[in-house]
Order: sequence, then C-alpha cells, then structure tokens
Amino acid sequence: MNINVIGTGYVGLVSGAGLADFGNHVVCSDINKDKINLLKNGKIPFYEPGLTEFVKRNVEAGRLSFSNEVGESIKDADVIFIAVWTPMSDNGEANLSAIENVAETIGRNLNEYKVVCTKSTVPVGTGEKIRKVIEKNKNSKINFDVISNPEFLREGSSVKDFLIPNRVIIGVESEKAKEIMKNVYRPLFINETPIVFTDVKTAETIKYASNAFLAVKISYINEIANLCDATGADVHVVSKAMGLDNRIGSKFLHPGPGYGGSCFPKDTNALVKLGKNKGVDLTIVKAAIKTNSKQREKVYNKLKKLFNNNVKGKTIAILGLAFKSNTDDVRQSSAIYFIEKLLDEGASLKAFDPAANENMKKLFLKVNYCDSLEEAVTDADGIVVLTEWHEIRGMDLEKVSKLVKTKILLDAKNLLNPHELKRLGFTFKNVGRPNVR
Ligand code: UDX
Repeated sequence: MNINVIGTGYVGLVSGAGLADFGNHVVCSDINKDKINLLKNGKIPFYEPGLTEFVKRNVEAGRLSFSNEVGESIKDADVIFIAVWTPMSDNGEANLSAIENVAETIGRNLNEYKVVCTKSTVPVGTGEKIRKVIEKNKNSKINFDVISNPEFLREGSSVKDFLIPNRVIIGVESEKAKEIMKNVYRPLFINETPIVFTDVKTAETIKYASNAFLAVKISYINEIANLCDATGADVHVVSKAMGLDNRIGSKFLHPGPGYGGSCFPKDTNALVKLGKNKGVDLTIVKAAIKTNSKQREKVYNKLKKLFNNNVKGKTIAILGLAFKSNTDDVRQSSAIYFIEKLLDEGASLKAFDPAANENMKKLFLKVNYCDSLEEAVTDADGIVVLTEWHEIRGMDLEKVSKLVKTKILLDAKNLLNPHELKRLGFTFKNVGRPNVR
C-alpha cells in the first residue's frame, strides 16, 4: 500500500516507520521544513530508543521517505494517516485546529478514492468532523472513507509497541476501507495479533477509555500509598500483592508524584470535557485528575518537611527530569512542578537526567544542569529522585553519600532500598513505605 503519514511528531514518525517495516511504501510529511530536513539527514528530532536505526533501516530499504510537499504526498497515497498534535485548550477540550487544517488540505488534494485515518487521539465525533471538512473542500465526486486507528504507543518503547502490539483497533464503516486496512496491517494479521474492527466512534472511545483507566489506576495506588503513609503499611508490598490477582494486574500500580506526559493529563481532561458536553458526569475520571494534582503537592511537601519546611538557600539535586524513563519528554513532568516550587521558595537547583536536560533547559535557565549524576549530587544539601531511569535506580549510594553535603533524600518513585539508605545514614522519605528501624 502507498501510505502518507501527516505529522512527524513522535506518533507519526514511529507509525510511519512501523508501517514501512510492515512492507508498505510510506511518505511521512510535515509542514515544518526544519524537521523534514533533519529527517532527510537521518536525524530524529527527539529521543526514542531504537528509532534512529528503525527509521534508517526502512529508508535504506526504499520504503520510507520524507517530504514537505503535503499536498503531493496526499495525491500519491492510498491511505492517509493523520498524526498531528491535538493539544489541550485552556478549557480542557482537545484543540483540533491542526486536524482541521490537515482535513482541508486532504480535501483539496483528493484526486482519487482514499482512506483517511486518524492516529492522533481525538474526541469522539472527530471522524465525522473530518469527513465534513473533506467533503466541503473536495472539488469532484471522488469518494473517500474516514476511519479511526488510535495509537497505544508508550514513549520509550514505542518501536516495540508498534511492531508487537497488544491489540490493534480499527474503526471503519465500509468494507472497502476494511479490506485496505487489512492489507496495511498484513503482518499483524498473519501473526494473529488481536484486531478489533468496530465503528469510528467506538474506536475513538476505546483510546480515551483506556488511557483514562490507566490514569485512574495510578491515582488509585497513589491514594493507597498516602493511606499507607498514615497507617504504617508498606504500599510496595500492597501493590505487589494486588498485582498478583490477574483481575487487577501488576502494571500501573507504582506510586509516585503523580502521572505526567503528553497523554494522560490531556486525555483525562478531554474525556471529562466530552462527558460534560454530552451531559454525562465522569466522576471517577474527575477524581483521578484531582488526586493527581494533589499528589504532586503532597510529595513536594514531603521534601519540604525533610528541610523543616524551609528550602531557602539550600542546594537541591534533582535526579530525573523526564516525565518517565527512556524519553527526553518533559511535558507535564513532575520535575516541572518541583523546579517551579523550589526556585520560588529560594532553593538553588542542580539537575541530572540522562536524556532530558536540554528540553528542561528550554523551560528553566536558572537550574545548573549536570552531565552526570555524581556531578549533580556533589555538595548538595539534599536529593530528590523523580524519574525511574535505570541509571538513577542503580546509583552507587555509598559513593553518593560521600559526595553530598547533607544526607537528605526524597525518593518520590520508591526506587532505592530503604535499608541501604538507612545504613548509610540518610534522612529520607519515600511514598507509602514505613520507616526502617
Ligand atoms: C501512555 C499510554 O500508556 C499509551 O498507551 C498511550 O498511547 C499514550 O500514553 P506514555 O505517555 O508513554 O503512554 O506513558 P506511560 O508509560 O503510560 O506512563 C504515563 C505516566 O504514568 C508517567 O508519568 C508514569 O511515570 C506514570 N506512571 C505509570 C505511574 O505513576 N505509575 C505507574 O504505575 C505507571
């Protein structure tokens, strides 16, 4: 199949390379010339493990290319994937202006029957909107189908997630488009990956319902962790034991400073807003959002408590800036909240992240970004651990204890061994774990 993926962000690029790997001919197009030039030179504009090689392999095989000529790449395609951003507007709704622009361009360049497929996370009913915009802009009687194929890629492991997905969701309402999509995903049919064919609205709903459910799960375990803090129980054991029940599952039961990233905060808000517009109260999702914002504050206060509620003049080392490990993405990362608060309250900050220093630098200049964990902790009055990078989880605590000025530490992700911290003389806190005697 000839495929055009519009939008070379993280979703578009991984999907484009993945679809090429499945044997399709893919052009990834974008209006941003700098991005396309970078990609043409074999560079990836963000950090994603394995993606550079994955893209290179498919470019070299002649299946993947990049273009600024969005109109032309539309004309050449059988299937067009829309993978542009849908950021959160001030009122919580998803902002669909980029999607609408793309739909207009598709309409103007529709030269023969095509399948137009949304990959971006879009509110239920967007497929219908896209259809209307294309209809309005096309100047002949050419047919098209609008379908939905939401992505479930996790940043940090998206290449693997694309190639070996748990499931593929395809919202499609014509037999012709269904057959075309079967061809697009042929290798997954052959290896019997579960593929759910449904209507467009249901597909759109599945994406939001899944992400919101995961967000609820995280907020739930964060509340249980707070309860453990109050009772002296150990959330680490609670969560492990809960996860052994396969009705519950062990994933997304790790407490911390609250979820972040480009999806959960945006999608939960968009879902609540959609519910409101339709007169449906999504109480549980609302509660997850509320719990999440309170959780950051709660965990931050733990850090302050370690400094007798006064961080003024203290040098604090922040370990981990990305919203999770294996990415350089800092969007809605808890580190942003911590940096803002700490700077505001007069602390000096040193920070280390294996991949996200540069992106955080764009937001905060008044932080001393360090090239190594050791450099960041040297002479610090305290440490806060915010991201679960292996490098941070596996830090040499003995060495760290010798480098810091004061042995104060907040392990906001419960990564470090409390017995080890105690043995080395740290005054420390984590989330929902009892004091070590
Ligand atoms: C998510 C979804 O998993 C993916 O299916 C969707 O397509 C896009 O959004 P991603 O944003 O990459 O993917 O991150 P994910 O690994 O799901 O984590 C989201 C946030 O939850 C992170 O801030 C992470 O630190 C946090 N988290 C995750 C927890 O706090 N506890 C957990 O147990 C798991």
